[in-house]
Amino acid sequence: ADALRVALAGLGTVGAGVVRVLDANRDLIARRAGRPIEVVAVSARDRHKDRGIDLNRFDWVDDTGALAHADADVVVELIGGSDGPALALARATLAAGKGFVTANKAMLAHHGYELAQAAEAAGAPLKFEAAVAGGIPVIKGLREGAAANAIARVYGVLNGTCNFILSTMEAEGRDFAEVLAEAQALGFAEADPSFDIDGVDAAHKLSILAAIAFGSRPAFDAVEAHGIRGVLAADIAEAAALGYRVRLLGVAEAGASGLFQRVHPHLVPVSHPLAHVTGSTNAVVAEGNFVGRLLFQGAGAGEGPTASAVVADLIDIARREFGPPFAMPAASLETPEPADGGSRRGR
Ligand code: NDP
Ligand code: HSE
Repeated sequence: ADALRVALAGLGTVGAGVVRVLDANRDLIARRAGRPIEVVAVSARDRHKDRGIDLNRFDWVDDTGALAHADADVVVELIGGSDGPALALARATLAAGKGFVTANKAMLAHHGYELAQAAEAAGAPLKFEAAVAGGIPVIKGLREGAAANAIARVYGVLNGTCNFILSTMEAEGRDFAEVLAEAQALGFAEADPSFDIDGVDAAHKLSILAAIAFGSRPAFDAVEAHGIRGVLAADIAEAAALGYRVRLLGVAEAGASGLFQRVHPHLVPVSHPLAHVTGSTNAVVAEGNFVGRLLFQGAGAGEGPTASAVVADLIDIARREFGPPFAMPAASLETPEPADGGSRRGR
């Protein structure tokens, strides 16, 4: 069968990881996808940076935006940023009727509704498993596995960097700044780590989960977000003495008056499974009216897990398995009404 031809924008932690996954599991992936998946063109800022992979076998495209018109079936965007080159590439790719795969939750939180409309108008796939909770198949789990259920609540640990910082401070009593630097070195943190520690990244992800769970348009501005800057080692020790752990949770809940979407540090009792989610692990709980409580847990950040989710999307596209990006047609997605009737947004 004809290969699925892929143009890859961004060759950082996740982009280089995608090349490594496709190389290492080439035959297995081809058998599962029903055809080979081949990267044909790539783009990043610096052509000469050593990324530990041989780039000579791909066409190097200097102008990332031109990847939308490369001889490829699908564009994978792993640059990041809610606007700028990522958004321009998404719009141009979908307008050209090609598939688009991304891990860019910031872009989806701000422009996901527009992009879903564009994808549906073009009959093209828009897929983003890696955008929420890294390697955990939570998008697929909610969109497909729990599709028969009304969801009452979805919540969880959505930011690996914050969870790594909180659980390392808790276990080793180490300094916040030192642990953040370690998370950055491990490739977990965003290019601007204030997105992680101020709860913005978790808010991006929560708005995407809420869109799938509640049929709302992803709307970052409807999420109130508070991060972990103010959490001191002394707070963590005090919580532990009382039988709690501090976790940054995103919570979305459908109420009678609207949709509650909030990110902030919570005291989680040690008896709750989320208290035992440590390091860069993420966990998402969803409560469905027939399936009951689902718990998705696994690696929420880092090269291998995130690239694994990106390649899973490519396999779905190679098999021609895709539906509306947010679980129902974009025309049915409603603007979320904040539960208290006003803007709840913090930072
Ligand atoms: P990196 O910063 O490691 O990589 C970004 C890549 O984009 C680099 O290769 C960079 O080029 C390239 N790039 C940056 N600006 C431009 C531009 N203007 N034009 C062309 N290329 C550009 O980021 P990550 O791999 O960590 O993240 C990529 C995306 O995946 C982001 O949306 C992030 O939020 C998301 N994500 C990341 C996870 C992680 O654990 N790291 C987990 C889940 C999602 P160069 O290398 O030449 O500088
Ligand atoms: N910076 C993000 C995190 C990457 O720490 O969770 C995964 O989305």
